[in-house]
Order: sequence, then C-alpha cells, then structure tokens
Amino acid sequence: MASTRLTRRKLHLVMLLLLALLTISCGNASTQAVPEQATSTPLQSLRSLAQARGMYIGTVVNVDALQSEEQYGEVLAREFNIVTPEVSLKFDATEPELNQYNFDRGDTIVAFAKAHNMQVRGHTLVWYRALPSWLTAGKFSRSELMQILRDHIFTEISHYRGQINIWDVVNEAVNNDGTLRDSIWLRGIGPDYIDWAFRWAHEANPQARLFYNDFGGEGSGRKSDAIYNLVRGLLQRGVPISGVGLQMHVGIDSYPDPQGVLANMQRLNALGLEVQITEMDVRIQGDRRPVQTRLSIQAQIYRDMLSVCLEVAGCTAFVMWGFTDLHSWIPSATGHPDAPLIFDQDYRPKPAYFALMDDLEQRRMSHREKRPLHLLRYGSSPRSCRNCFRPTQLQQRP
Ligand code: XIL
Repeated sequence: MASTRLTRRKLHLVMLLLLALLTISCGNASTQAVPEQATSTPLQSLRSLAQARGMYIGTVVNVDALQSEEQYGEVLAREFNIVTPEVSLKFDATEPELNQYNFDRGDTIVAFAKAHNMQVRGHTLVWYRALPSWLTAGKFSRSELMQILRDHIFTEISHYRGQINIWDVVNEAVNNDGTLRDSIWLRGIGPDYIDWAFRWAHEANPQARLFYNDFGGEGSGRKSDAIYNLVRGLLQRGVPISGVGLQMHVGIDSYPDPQGVLANMQRLNALGLEVQITEMDVRIQGDRRPVQTRLSIQAQIYRDMLSVCLEVAGCTAFVMWGFTDLHSWIPSATGHPDAPLIFDQDYRPKPAYFALMDDLEQRRMSHREKRPLHLLRYGSSPRSCRNCFRPTQLQQRP
C-alpha cells in the first residue's frame, strides 16, 4: 500500500516536472495570451481522489458544450462528482414568460449528472441579474412581486425535488462596502426578501441544503464581515440556511490570503454553517511575467484554496467555474483573452490540475475522519452531520 502510494506520488512529481519543462520550452510569454500546454494523461482523476476523502469536487456546466463536444462530457464525468448548471437554472432561462417554465436545458444537465452519479448544485433562484424582461419591465406591487418570487422558487425547487439537493437560494445580495445590493427584489420587497426566499425554498423542499452565495467575501474584509453578519442574522431569526458559497473568482494578481479564507470558513462553520468554494477560476491576464510563471502561480492559488477547504471540516465542496479554458466566461466578461481554468483549450491538464491532484493525494485527512461534524442543519440546535450534504455515502462510479 505505502509503496504504491509512494510510487504514485513519485510518478506525479515526475509528471509535474515534465510538464513544467515542456511548458517552459513551448511557452512564448510575449505573444501568447492563452498558453499551449503539454499533453499528459492523468493517472487518476480528481474525482476519485476527492471521493476517497469524502468531498465534492466540481465544475460549472455549459449545456451547449455538453451537447456538442464529446470530450467535454468525457472529462466532466471522469474528473468531477458535482456540477453546477452555468445559466440553465437562472430566472430568465427557467421562467422566460410569467408562469411559463422551461426546464429542458436544466433537465439535460441533471440527466447527465444522474447517469454519471454526480450531484447537482442548483444555481440560482434569487439574483439581481439574468432576469426576464417581463419581470424587469413590469410594474408590480410588493405583494405581486412576492407572489412571483414565491411561485418561481416553489416551481423550480419542486421540479427538481429528489434530483437537486443543494441550492444557491440567494446570489450576490451584498455590495463590496457591505450594504445590500440594489435589485428588483430589494426595491420591490425590501431587505426581508432574503428571509422569505430561504423560507419558501425550505417549504418547497425541506431536505435541500440552502446556500447564500457571493464573490469577494472569501477572505477577511468588509464584505466578508457583512456576509457573516447577514447569515448570522438569518440564523438568529430561525431562517433555514445551511451554508455559504464562496465563489472565488480571483486572479494571480488579486486573490485573498488563504489564512484569511481559512479564518472566514472557520467562523462560518462555527455558526453551524457549511461552506463551499463554488465558482473558482484564476485569471492570468494583465500580468507581464512569463506564461510559465503565471501558470505556476495560478496552480499554487488553486492548491492553496483547495488546501484550505480540506482543512475545514465544514467545507464540503470545491467547485470551479468551468474546467477547460475553451469555455470559460472570463474572456467575454473581461474582454481579454485568458486561461483561468485547470485544463487548456484542448482539454490538456495544466499545472493547476496537477497541483489539485497532488494536494488531494498528499493531504492527510485523518482529522476529518476522526472529528465528527457537528454542523447545525438549520437554526441553532446542534446535531450530528449524518444528514448533512456530505459525500460520505457517495457510491463509487460504476
Ligand atoms: C455567469 C456565466 O458564466 C455567464 O455565462 C453569464 O453570461 C453571466 O453569468 N457569478 C455567478 C454566476 O454567480 O452565475 C456568473 O455566471 C458568474 C459570476
């Protein structure tokens, strides 16, 4: 056993070295915005290693790529055990007209996940963006808006009951300065829209894990304090929230201190909340250092954030906002070419992929196995985590 592990570890190190050498010899820092990668076949998958440690590792899914590129589905099923639909479950996609729902694209992803024994993160029910024009252009009273939101939450969660067990109920409700973000929901309903959304979601499916999800509040700072206070308030009022999603859209020149992320996860965990990294990507654009340098910094950032998640008992998933640079949202969101994910545009694993593999393989998880999770399901009464959204019962892939 030990010698097998040693041999595997040695092989990984050799692969990492080879990859680094090949990247250095191929990369042309001045002209290549999106670098070439060395071809290499992984010995094991992220999925198998994560599963052995009882955690979820996942990615966002682009349904068009899933339907048109064979390799996309192959890598997806091989490397991940949880997926998040990128746009298919957002308000404008699911309720394009008032009371007319369309779950076709969401269903495609859920069917894929089911066929490959993967979990699905439902993203997202209440957001200030991705709203249909009938909603944004309409003039609705407070009670009409509440009815619209309640129906939407009920219909979507009910459609996926038994298939989607975890939801980003409210997404990005907090500004960087810690105030509540302006939105149709805040303006039309008031700050208690957040409480209502969680209560309705819980009514629609009492088994589901319900998350608040946001960016820029991963480490220490004003925004993370505001999010902490927000979710603590929810718990104090008995609102059924189970966890906080830390999106982690970062760059090699702007990322939170891992120690700060650790402390933030721990304080959320101490409230009885689960945490998950939900949308990680690491931009390398706008930096003049050679490509290979940027890629190794990127790898280190991925590794550090995974390490933090592995360190915290209540961190149950590490999810990236895509896996191949071919389908990252970053170039269109920023207007610049980039390579923020762990596979290159040709589905070849990058240094970041090997860093995650290596971290999963090397980290001793004994503390996690020994220490039972005393996460609170909802509210403030302690209970064991037997029913928590932990993949301890995940079956091995067939
Ligand atoms: C992004 C998608 O990736 C894009 O394709 C879409 O055009 C806009 O939304 N935070 C979130 C995600 O919670 O829903 C966003 O997804 C990225 C930022």
